[in-house]
Amino acid sequence: MIEAGAKIAPADGSLGVLLPGLGAVSTTLIAGVELIKKGLGRPIGSLTQLGTIRIGKRTDNNTPSIRDFVPLASLDSLVFGAWDIFPDNAYESAAHAGVIAPPLLDNVREELEAIRPWPGVFDPGVVKRLHGTHVKQSATKLDLAESLMADIDAFRHRTGVKRAVMVWCGSTESFLHPGPAHRTLADFEAALRANDPTIRPSMIYAYAALSQGIPFANGAPNLTVDVPALVELADSRRVPICGKDFKTGQTLMKTIIAPGLKARMLGLSGWFSTNILGNRDGEVLDEPSSFRTKEESKLSVLDVILRKDLHPELYGDYIHRVNIQYYPPRGDNKEGWDNIDLFGWLGYPMQMKINFLCRDSILAAPLVLDLALFLDLAQRAGMHGIQEWLSFYFKSPQTAPGLYPEHDLFIQLVKLKNTLRHLRGAELITHLGLEYYD
Ligand SMILES: NC(=O)c1ccc[n+]([C@@H]2O[C@H](COP(=O)([O-])OP(=O)(O)OC[C@H]3O[C@@H](n4cnc5c(N)ncnc54)[C@H](O)[C@@H]3O)[C@@H](O)[C@H]2O)c1
Repeated sequence: MIEAGAKIAPADGSLGVLLPGLGAVSTTLIAGVELIKKGLGRPIGSLTQLGTIRIGKRTDNNTPSIRDFVPLASLDSLVFGAWDIFPDNAYESAAHAGVIAPPLLDNVREELEAIRPWPGVFDPGVVKRLHGTHVKQSATKLDLAESLMADIDAFRHRTGVKRAVMVWCGSTESFLHPGPAHRTLADFEAALRANDPTIRPSMIYAYAALSQGIPFANGAPNLTVDVPALVELADSRRVPICGKDFKTGQTLMKTIIAPGLKARMLGLSGWFSTNILGNRDGEVLDEPSSFRTKEESKLSVLDVILRKDLHPELYGDYIHRVNIQYYPPRGDNKEGWDNIDLFGWLGYPMQMKINFLCRDSILAAPLVLDLALFLDLAQRAGMHGIQEWLSFYFKSPQTAPGLYPEHDLFIQLVKLKNTLRHLRGAELITHLGLEYYD
């Protein structure tokens, strides 16, 4: 475990932010950062940019900004690089995604046009709805990993960045159970050489990043770094990793509401969630094998928060259904409906309806920014392996084997802030508060 108040290397120079997948989320992040740098937007939704952290007692009145409390890379120091299986530059891709309105987007057109994706590592059997044209060809998966490393080397050389992080913003891959190829690093490397089909493209990116000492976060529900072989690589190279699946719309709300119901010991008989979504992500998720990966990720949160094993009379037998319908007219503007059937005193039934008209990439972009900055901080602080304190950002947080993840957003936030306090050697906040009454 990292020592309290351990030395953190300063955030000198530029930080490369490497993005496999230059689609709606990535381009909304990049355009947003460029707009914010020009004073044309605010980083709303970003804890690293707007969050504060209380230090000491409530009576101390000491609540600095998170970015003043820990040494984070500044927005000015970020340099973006990306891969995609389509050759569109970041401006074309952002225009296609339609998240940021053209008059605003045109203010950063030049910066976005300069970001042209490197050809991606792709397997059409794994994301069936996409037919990529800008794809690397190599004899083995190991060669593909080496080609990604060569892209990273060239990027470092061209931009002069000393540090980099990678955040997977590519499409959701089809469902996969961990298998023999994922057991140890030696098994994984043998499987790379043998073109094993269970080594997925996202794993090849992660392998390339970790091999070069670059922290990796996974924004999709694919296994990717959540396999023993890549955890072993992260630990042996002393690199931080985290995942999976950005927690943005409906699941974010679920992990806000469910802890509240449980806190009041209100029962649940059913939670029905449905969404319409019309972007490329929605199109990919319309394919059953990709949706299965997402479904697993979305379904798990309630069971962990409600703990039916401890409260069978309240949560022993609720029905939980989740689906996503691909509906092109809505583009990135997702609409989610939740119907919650709950019950109270003496078993009397009640209902709650949530209709969230959200914007998928507007919610996701600040998470990518925070993850990039926090992973870079973690690495400069000497942290490595699974970063559970970043579970705040994920629907299926990666944890140590045998440890159930915390899904409750408020527990996740306390964990994140206490980790920052620990890093700076400040007292952890337990909310006990008895000392105010002594
Ligand atoms: N937006 C959200 O709220 C949210 C929430 C949770 C998870 N996610 C996940 O984040 C990811 C990105 O979402 P998005 O809305 O930007 O999707 P998107 O479809 O707009 O972008 C994904 C991009 O990845 C590219 N791609 C696919 N496979 C690739 C590969 N092997 N190598 C390089 N590029 C590849 C696609 O061509 C596409 O441009 C998706 O997996 C999505 O499920 C998004």
